[in-house]
Amino acid sequence: DCESKLQLVRRHIRDFPDFPKPGIVFRDICPILKDPAALTAVIDLFEEHVRKNHPQVELIVGLDARGFLFGPLLAQRLGVGFVMIRKKGKLPGTTASVAYDLEYGKAEAEIQEDAVAPGQKILLIDDLLATGGTLYAAGELLKKQQAEIMGCLVVIELNELNGSDKLKPLPVFSLVQY
Ligand code: PRP
Ligand code: ADE
Repeated sequence: DCESKLQLVRRHIRDFPDFPKPGIVFRDICPILKDPAALTAVIDLFEEHVRKNHPQVELIVGLDARGFLFGPLLAQRLGVGFVMIRKKGKLPGTTASVAYDLEYGKAEAEIQEDAVAPGQKILLIDDLLATGGTLYAAGELLKKQQAEIMGCLVVIELNELNGSDKLKPLPVFSLVQY
């Protein structure tokens, strides 16, 4: 059931104190990827949430790099497409870009200009919500493309950083909270 799947996911997250900088507790999802049952549980839980709350979704948009690990699996389950938002300089053709701050640094995100059609209903996906800077920037990119953003999906949410406040009014669905 749902509770045991959540427990399975939680048991496959490892903590690394002081990585990549002193004071940061890095929440490592590698054990989830290494365990087929845990990875299946992640996608099952996301699928269940989306079918119930966002059945009209037309596209899953994932964030570089760890959003790419879950996004295509979920998109395929749902029978919709997947689009990448990448770090600067990686995507060919005409792109739109936006700069943002991270829990431990700075970055710039890009999307191909023709990736999303105006009015298209999309869900954003990433492995983890910290300050919300990354997902907020992704939302800004998609607004420029006039996408209809329905919400954000993350495996892990770090509550003390209040990332979901930064994303308001977009709803955030997370599987594991710290
Ligand atoms: C991490 C994580 C999220 C983001 C969350 O990615 O995967 O994308 O930080 O932080 P925020 O909520 O404060 O924006 P990172 O930029 O380290 O890159 P990676 O996925 O390429 O490892
Ligand atoms: N991205 C931003 N903060 C993070 C953390 N504490 N652990 C893993 N990824 C992160």
